[in-house]
Amino acid sequence: MNDSILQSIKERALHQVSESNDSSTIEKIRVSFLGKKGELTSILRSMKDLPKEERPAFGQKVNMLRETIESALSEKSKTLHKIEQSARLRFEKIDVTEPAAAVPFGSMHPISLVQEELEEIFISLGFNVADGPEIELDHYNFELLNIPKDHPARDMQDSFYFNPNVLLRTHTSPVQARHMTSHKPPIRIVCPGRVYRCDEVDATHSPVFHQMEGLVVDKGIKMSDLKGTLDVFAKKLYGPETKTRFRPSYFPFTEPSAEVDLTCSMCHGKGCRVCKGTGWIEVLGCGMVNPNVLTMCGIDPNEYSGFAFGLGLDRIACIKYGVSDLRLLYENDTRFLSQF
Ligand code: PHE
Repeated sequence: MNDSILQSIKERALHQVSESNDSSTIEKIRVSFLGKKGELTSILRSMKDLPKEERPAFGQKVNMLRETIESALSEKSKTLHKIEQSARLRFEKIDVTEPAAAVPFGSMHPISLVQEELEEIFISLGFNVADGPEIELDHYNFELLNIPKDHPARDMQDSFYFNPNVLLRTHTSPVQARHMTSHKPPIRIVCPGRVYRCDEVDATHSPVFHQMEGLVVDKGIKMSDLKGTLDVFAKKLYGPETKTRFRPSYFPFTEPSAEVDLTCSMCHGKGCRVCKGTGWIEVLGCGMVNPNVLTMCGIDPNEYSGFAFGLGLDRIACIKYGVSDLRLLYENDTRFLSQF
């Protein structure tokens, strides 16, 4: 064992270190020279074979070589670390001037837009928004609204029944029945929501559609209050020049009952494709709450009176946005929906 072995180790180690160009190679070099089974370590171990007097000087040389290799390794690993870090930074660099990836935004459904607009109008008139279940009891959907089992009016609303007592609500009127049985007058509510009838799908019919029910019950409520409210509503919806027209009609839960037409918002009453040349558009049914309904819901008709109205949100949305086929509202075609 002599200095030439140490010299050769030194040359090979330093050469390998200078040739290396990543941290994992540095680690391998360290293990192969300085590790437990490394070259320099085994030389230290074999020192016991040297004559006693040579050991200290040789040991010193080995230690010096160890330090030389260690510092070469740590020097190189620092340099490599810097290079690797700047490469990573270059790779991760964000060019803030680059245009951002487009975030696809959703849009509001036209029925939701119309529903929100009408809610705003009625809230501004002092109404609250009330809610009710879509799976409804026959009791609220028909009985409390003065439509007993054998009433011919049931034919007007072909219903989806789960069993003789439970059905998908055919209109939003059961919400008014529910509200009257659980609240004392004064009552001023609108109830928007989905309703269901066994209708074939075509351009103007769908088995699911949307209504908004309105109900006011208080002392001294008169037909003129109903007309005034709906007139203000029509003007807020379609503009101040809009006129309303009441035609006598029949609903079991209102007496007297009326259907209400508004002057066509497209042609302002001159006659066009939307109003089929009549200048008027039929938008809602209404009337004074039938005293029988008040009594059944626990409100004394001698003390209180009220009016109710129901309108079709789908129809209002179609007119407002010039949609000629109701099916477009339900097909969820994003080419259609993204226009709103
Ligand atoms: N519920 C009725 C319908 O769906 C509409 C309506 C509501 C009429 C309130 C009068 C009063 O046909």
